[in-house]
Amino acid sequence: MVTLEGMMRSAILAAARSPQLEQLVSAAPVSRSVVRRFVAGTTTEDAIDASRALVHDGLAVTLDFLGEDTEDAGQARAATEAYVELLGALGAAGLTPPTEVSVKLSALGMLLDEKLASDNVLAICRAADAADTTVTIDMEDHTTTDASLDLLLRVRKDFPETGAVLQAYLRRTEADCRDLAVAGSRIRLCKGAYDEPESVAYQSDLEVSRSYVRCANVLLAGGGYPMFATHDPRLVAILEDRVRWYDRPVDTFEFQMLYGVRPVEQRRLAELGYAVRVYVPYGTQWYGYLMRRLAERPANTALFLRALVGR
Ligand code: FDA
Repeated sequence: MVTLEGMMRSAILAAARSPQLEQLVSAAPVSRSVVRRFVAGTTTEDAIDASRALVHDGLAVTLDFLGEDTEDAGQARAATEAYVELLGALGAAGLTPPTEVSVKLSALGMLLDEKLASDNVLAICRAADAADTTVTIDMEDHTTTDASLDLLLRVRKDFPETGAVLQAYLRRTEADCRDLAVAGSRIRLCKGAYDEPESVAYQSDLEVSRSYVRCANVLLAGGGYPMFATHDPRLVAILEDRVRWYDRPVDTFEFQMLYGVRPVEQRRLAELGYAVRVYVPYGTQWYGYLMRRLAERPANTALFLRALVGR
């Protein structure tokens, strides 16, 4: 059934791909506080400051240098260098661990040349290894899933701790969880943030949540390290029950949430003794990221539109 919320979500996700709208929104005097709520800032220093504050509050961090769909080898190299610089600075600041990085393959040149993206990921993994921390490879739309998982398996030969992301809205994901729930395998399970066709993805919230729970069970029954990325209160409650059912010690899994989303819940879970990691984006290319966050929650759109018109 097509709901108003579903239509809004599709419209916002279409807007996320519109260069014209991107120019308009980026040029508008968008209230800094709206972008700042979800994005830590534009520079390496901003990323380090945000990480330090979160670590001080007992949270772990994964940093995302914003950028996607790079079709230029120079830009992909620049993104790689930004990560290498960041990891060096994080190590020097004594923040690794508990701070790691998340990378988008499309930002590292995957649309251009898989070898280039793979070389860039390996360069970032080497810098992460030198700083005693890890890399997680974000997952993008379903047309990239196979290539992303292939690349992950190649990277894991040298850097076995490299994390992967699986999206519960994809019909294939339960099977992918079975394949990847092996000893040492770090897997972030999320609902999925792209507009996907019914042929490959569950469409209703209920179906996606049910798939999430099935996948969580598979991951918890296996030997890997599940990273449960969700803000959904019902799923968090189910996961708290499931980790007890599987007798999982608190150092064998973690919860993950986005910067600026349910910060009180992040701290509540950490105070209960769970490992909680906050996904912190930074950089100037915040547009696509922000639009996906707005699509997840129409209430945020009203906040954003008010800021756009300066109210
Ligand atoms: P859902 O969207 O149903 O939200 C449940 C509740 O959480 C809402 O009712 C609201 O209270 C709160 N909430 C959720 N989103 C909010 C927002 N934006 N602002 C304010 N409140 C909000 N996706 C992907 O496709 N590839 C990836 O690599 C990643 N990586 C990733 C990492 C991490 C750490 C997280 C937390 C998420 C991702 N995602 C992702 C995004 C993910 O797929 C999904 O789109 C969002 O997490 C929203 O889904 P929830 O499970 O939070 O539930």
